[in-house]
Amino acid sequence: MAQYFKQLAMAPCSTAARCFFFSPSPSLLLLCSFAALHYLPLSSAIDSISANNSLKGNQSIISVGGNFRLGFFTPTGSSSLNFYIGIWYDKISVFTPVWVANRATPVKDPTASELRISGDGNLVLLLLDNSSIIWSTNVTIPSDSATVAVILDTGNLQLRDESNSSLVFWQSFDHPTDTWLPGAKLRFDKLTNRTQPLTAWKSKVDPAPGIFTLEVDPAGTYQCYMLWNSSRIYWSSGLWNGNTFGSIPEIAPSRNFGYGYQFVDNEEEFYFAYTIDNPNMISRNVLDHDSGLSQQWTWTESSKSWVLYWTQPPFRCSVFALCGSFSSCNDFTSSACNCIKGFRIKSRSDWDLGDKTAGCERITPLQCEQNNSIDSQRDGFFMMTNVRLPDKADALAMARTSEECELACLNNCSCNAYSYNTTGCYVWHGDLLNLQEQYNQPDAGTLYLRLSALELQSSGSNKNTVVTWVIVGVVSTIVLLCLAIVTVWIMISKRRSRKMIQNLNRAQSSLVSFTYSELQHATRNFSEKIGGGGFGSVFKGSLPGSVAIAVKKLEGLRQGEKQFRTEVGTIGRIQHINLVRLLGFCSQRSEKLLVYEFMPNGSLNSHLFDRTAPSTVLTWRTRYQIAIGVAKGLDYLHEQCRDCIIHCDIKPENILLDASFNPKVADFGLAKLMGRDFSRVVTTLRGTPGYLAPEWITGVAITTKADVYSYGMMLLEIISGRRNVEQTEQSSDLYYHPTSMASKLIAGEVATVLDGGLGHEEVDMEELERACKIAFWCIQNEESCRPTMGQVLQVLEGVVDVDMPPVPRSLQLIDKSESETINFFH
Ligand SMILES: *[C@@H]1O[C@H](CO)[C@@H](O)[C@H](O)[C@H]1NC(C)=O
Ligand SMILES: *[C@@H]1O[C@H](CO)[C@@H](O)[C@H](O)[C@H]1NC(C)=O
Ligand SMILES: *[C@@H]1O[C@H](CO)[C@@H](O)[C@H](O)[C@H]1NC(C)=O
Ligand SMILES: *[C@@H]1O[C@H](CO)[C@@H](O)[C@H](O)[C@H]1NC(C)=O
Ligand SMILES: *[C@@H]1O[C@H](CO)[C@@H](O)[C@H](O)[C@H]1NC(C)=O
Ligand SMILES: *[C@@H]1O[C@H](CO)[C@@H](O)[C@H](O)[C@H]1NC(C)=O
Ligand SMILES: *[C@@H]1O[C@H](CO)[C@@H](O)[C@H](O)[C@H]1NC(C)=O
Ligand SMILES: *[C@@H]1O[C@H](CO)[C@@H](O)[C@H](O)[C@H]1NC(C)=O
Ligand SMILES: *[C@@H]1O[C@H](CO)[C@@H](O)[C@H](O)[C@H]1NC(C)=O
Ligand SMILES: *[C@@H]1O[C@H](CO)[C@@H](O)[C@H](O)[C@H]1NC(C)=O
Repeated sequence: MAQYFKQLAMAPCSTAARCFFFSPSPSLLLLCSFAALHYLPLSSAIDSISANNSLKGNQSIISVGGNFRLGFFTPTGSSSLNFYIGIWYDKISVFTPVWVANRATPVKDPTASELRISGDGNLVLLLLDNSSIIWSTNVTIPSDSATVAVILDTGNLQLRDESNSSLVFWQSFDHPTDTWLPGAKLRFDKLTNRTQPLTAWKSKVDPAPGIFTLEVDPAGTYQCYMLWNSSRIYWSSGLWNGNTFGSIPEIAPSRNFGYGYQFVDNEEEFYFAYTIDNPNMISRNVLDHDSGLSQQWTWTESSKSWVLYWTQPPFRCSVFALCGSFSSCNDFTSSACNCIKGFRIKSRSDWDLGDKTAGCERITPLQCEQNNSIDSQRDGFFMMTNVRLPDKADALAMARTSEECELACLNNCSCNAYSYNTTGCYVWHGDLLNLQEQYNQPDAGTLYLRLSALELQSSGSNKNTVVTWVIVGVVSTIVLLCLAIVTVWIMISKRRSRKMIQNLNRAQSSLVSFTYSELQHATRNFSEKIGGGGFGSVFKGSLPGSVAIAVKKLEGLRQGEKQFRTEVGTIGRIQHINLVRLLGFCSQRSEKLLVYEFMPNGSLNSHLFDRTAPSTVLTWRTRYQIAIGVAKGLDYLHEQCRDCIIHCDIKPENILLDASFNPKVADFGLAKLMGRDFSRVVTTLRGTPGYLAPEWITGVAITTKADVYSYGMMLLEIISGRRNVEQTEQSSDLYYHPTSMASKLIAGEVATVLDGGLGHEEVDMEELERACKIAFWCIQNEESCRPTMGQVLQVLEGVVDVDMPPVPRSLQLIDKSESETINFFH
């Protein structure tokens, strides 16, 4: 046994070129179905347009291997009848265009338009009525050359010499639209000194050039930029160092998980391109019209959808002026963009289609803009705290105090806001761009937004009317007090029930704030305890209308009220089918409670380890679905919701099962909520080789990979149906199962690692092996060797195959004596 481990230790993960290697999945191609669109090939599967044939109406050409098709299309969801010449995937069921020819000049009737080779050899799109050219490849072609346009299996459309295919005059890979396919170029043309930018669509249904571009530095340095309106850089890749980009270590060759980036510099051009190791993986990089982010998507056939692989920049609000003018960005809301107070969306239809460039407009004009100024009140200011101040401030050296600054702004009608900080007075004329709320950064400031008196009345923060508001406040307090007393008297349980149901319905969009007595009542004075843990006990309860809930009483929380509400608000906004939903909370004096949806099948541990009721043994199918569901939930927490959340406490106790055994991850966000108390709980667990990643013990920064580690440990338990660490009956020694599981996997005896309670005939051996391999990849000691949850998901779903993992170093450390007893983390 000792020899065995030494042998495996010869291939340390960190020196391998790639830690985690995807190899082609043979079943992938077979799974692919054909797109639902019915296009007519020109004749039997032609892949080119030559002088003898042209493209019209519903005709199309298709690449030799059937990957891509070129023809007329209308964008999905478009109500206008605009047609574009485009290239799209032909083998996947979601219509996804990757290139558009006449993106800014649509045609109305494809049967009256024609794509053909013109007299000068260019590929042109023309209107048949008057032969006007709508779009052209527009290159100079030697007169002795007959050209042909060919669609290739890579998605590239080439205009080349008919008899010499290496004579390429023009190709779509040199002129990408919003999609950067593997092999396509982000280039700088040295002959014209121009870049070829990737330009996002204008909106979901309009391929015309939008406001965001991704291009190599127009000044000619070796890096890429994302720009807003071709003027403001909001992201930079960092300089290419011969190996990777300075600011994106994620794509370094040692950890790029199957993607290879290239840089080519020659006499005519320099460009960046990328390749994918697995030729069967369908992947594309898109500059998103809605968010302005560069997103790498991969196709998952099992769920028939695109899965987000990575995003740059990681936060939406780093995109310059994402929300347009007079609008603010918030990374913690799902919609990101909202009009600021006193403003409304200027163009609803554009906004809904993802084109927010028009921004927002004032609802009530300022007093200074009106001519009957005598009878209207003066404008005032609305205070916005903790914001990223808008772009392009004018410094007013004259104004020395906050009051002078306010006055200076009031006296100029074009002034829309001011801010006064330690460096002085700043005012904004015209549009307010790039404002961000809940901006917890050192350069956050307070903005005073100019609004008409009418708009301010609803908020009451206007200094000029403070006295009025004090009076109103006192009166309404008295009224409210009276009302409260009356309410207490007449409060009967029926009434209360109705209110709570209403509250709960409202909870579809926001959290309900419960009173302590409401929860006391709902849980029958906390009588039915269904769980406990590091942070407090959980009780079952029910709201009127028999809505079952689980109430968690938090213990040892020393957080301020405001911070508690902020954190809870953030958790409440995170919703996913594989995450337990937070319905509401209660914060009264020192009592802090969280109210969750109730999960009838309890937690995963009771089903895995409790052998008193053998009839409830989970089938392999269910286990595999649970593994996939948890991976989806965690992937969402890590990648897809903006406030990246590290769970920190993944274990079977925190995986709850609903009525149909769908898994839901519980207690996410608590690590942040509990703050220092959480690390206290964790540190008391030091040395327990349960689910904690080594970095918890070594003390380096915790990343999402810590969750990946815990997930891997839990996956082993899901497979084996027993705790990874068990005390043997005879002695106090701990028995550590993953060690023997690793050796069985590598010896090819994967079936023996399985839960003994499962009938082997119902187990899909391929799934079992995949689950085992990925679990051991997840528990590698080096964080960079562990996959992301998105990659775990792809392996489990069978989109990509995975190599045999090396035995994790922590397992190699385990005492190699025959007894295999544990000697862990000394
Ligand atoms: C196109 O037509 C010309 C003459 O009409 C013929 O010589 C040539 O082979 C044809 N090309 C193709 C691709 O059919
Ligand atoms: C293509 O268009 C022609 C008429 O232009 C029509 O007869 C034919 O049915 C169409 N084919 C499909 C598959 O829609
Ligand atoms: C050609 O016809 C289209 C409409 O069919 C029209 O919009 C366009 O202006 C015409 N072009 C010329 C050059 O006449
Ligand atoms: C072709 O390019 C020239 C300049 O290179 C430009 O003036 C002309 O408008 C272009 N024609 C078309 C149809 O795009
Ligand atoms: C085809 O074009 C390439 C590039 O110009 C040239 O090197 C090659 O000799 C040509 N081949 C033939 C058969 O003409
Ligand atoms: C491109 O820029 C370089 C350096 O700025 C300059 O030397 C060259 O003349 C420019 N070429 C063109 C075609 O403008
Ligand atoms: C983009 O820049 C152009 C000038 O370069 C300007 O006219 C246009 O208004 C800008 N667009 C927006 C949305 O600000
Ligand atoms: C105010 O009066 C000026 C001319 O005196 C006029 O141009 C402007 O449109 C008026 N504004 C409003 C809001 O009525
Ligand atoms: C208001 O501010 C703008 C921009 O600074 C300036 O151009 C304008 O002259 C100012 N108007 C007055 C009345 O001071
Ligand atoms: C004050 O606000 C201005 C305007 O946004 C900003 O440039 C400056 O850095 C701020 N100063 C401090 C000390 O925050």
